[in-house]
Amino acid sequence: MVSYYIMASSKKPRLRDLALRRLLSVVFVTLCGVVILIFLLGSNSTPNIRSHDLDSVDDDSSSGYHSDLMFTKLQSLPQQTDLSLKLEKLNGMPPRNLDLYPTLAKDAIIVVLYVHNRPQYLKVVVESLSKVVGINETLLIVSHDGYFENMNKIVGGIRFCQVKQIYAPYSPHLFQNSFPGVSVGDCKDKDDAKGKHCEGNPDQYGNHRSPKIVSLKHHWWWMMNMIWDGLRETRVHSGHILFIEEDHFIFPNAYRNLQILTSLKPKKCPDCYAANLAPSDVNSRGEEWESLIAERMGNIGYSFNRTVWRKIHNKAREFCFFDDYNWDITMWATVYPSFGSPVYTLRGSRTSAVHFGKCGLHQGQGENKACIDNGMANIRVEEPDKVANIDSDWDVHVYKNQPGYKAGFKGWGGWGDDRDRHLCLSFANMYLSKGTASSL
Ligand SMILES: *[C@@H]1O[C@H](CO)[C@@H](O)[C@H](O)[C@H]1NC(C)=O
Ligand SMILES: *[C@@H]1O[C@H](CO)[C@@H](O)[C@H](O)[C@H]1NC(C)=O
Repeated sequence: MVSYYIMASSKKPRLRDLALRRLLSVVFVTLCGVVILIFLLGSNSTPNIRSHDLDSVDDDSSSGYHSDLMFTKLQSLPQQTDLSLKLEKLNGMPPRNLDLYPTLAKDAIIVVLYVHNRPQYLKVVVESLSKVVGINETLLIVSHDGYFENMNKIVGGIRFCQVKQIYAPYSPHLFQNSFPGVSVGDCKDKDDAKGKHCEGNPDQYGNHRSPKIVSLKHHWWWMMNMIWDGLRETRVHSGHILFIEEDHFIFPNAYRNLQILTSLKPKKCPDCYAANLAPSDVNSRGEEWESLIAERMGNIGYSFNRTVWRKIHNKAREFCFFDDYNWDITMWATVYPSFGSPVYTLRGSRTSAVHFGKCGLHQGQGENKACIDNGMANIRVEEPDKVANIDSDWDVHVYKNQPGYKAGFKGWGGWGDDRDRHLCLSFANMYLSKGTASSL
């Protein structure tokens, strides 16, 4: 039995997130200058940048990958910086490790790991993925919110499957003095836009945008559009895609369990939109019943197919105009309810993934290990977690009317600025010219 000693507490309450927002925005303005400076100095003085690095992108037009990645350059997309343009080119690079894993299994479930800048967490996740049975049959895509050397190094070391990195080219972290970053004339906090002649629309609570706060929802939405409709490796993928985050520990049986769940789903739970690795209650490790569970969509290790994506994409306007900076709460409060019937997901009754992060998403960055060391708890990987533990003969236990965010919730705010809403909408339109996207 292997034990990983990692802190395993639940997400911070949203209310505290909210209270921290004002403090964060002040800290952010100061830090962001420093961080960008360090980052720029760091990358300039690093002679040995890794394989898919920024310096090599310009001479790489020979691969033929770029031309295949057709962006409709919308007027409404912000003016890009050099860094943003370079990262966009990196997104066209082929996966790594093709020499070791030249082909994917026919029924591969592609795994997308979306990350920001918590290297100490990412190491744990990657280590856990390396032990996942079947991971070598599929492609792992790591989607980065911003460009961070320490994060790249960890991903660059992966040898256990095909791996491809993509970077959100409109991440606020890439824009030093223009939108989606902070611009000089932007309103802050509870500024009065008219009185101060500053730019911005306050959210429902009177607060102006904070780039650091909006970046996750932007990243998530950009990534979804990119993965399903843009990226050549995935835009024709017909099966499920699994989404995990940089603070999700994945058990060795996760992939095999997911294969079973997705194959059982059409028969056992026709009302299920997705298959999940973990309970929707982030504190639960599962019931350990001899039964499958159908319950409300969770945000840890969720997977769905293109049919479901099309339904989500159809609700781009709802997603992009809802005044909440959390992508998941936005989905629960607007997108899923608009489908007309309860949105269930199918899972096993013993979890195959756990959330271990304690630091809020944008705290505890850099080399600060405090977030992971405080309040340590075990993530125990026991024998039943190492092999598929779902029985195809089990019935489905359905949880109806679970508590949680639902239609009618007004949102936590943080997403009131028209520029954010329209950038979000532009992401949904990036691939319209390909004829795959639905009308908005
Ligand atoms: C994947 O790993 C397993 C176990 O190590 C091995 O038996 C199998 O041949 C590998 N498959 C591929 C496609 O590399
Ligand atoms: C995708 O999943 C949905 C929901 O489970 C299902 O109704 C649909 O038939 C699936 N689509 C494909 C192409 O398998």
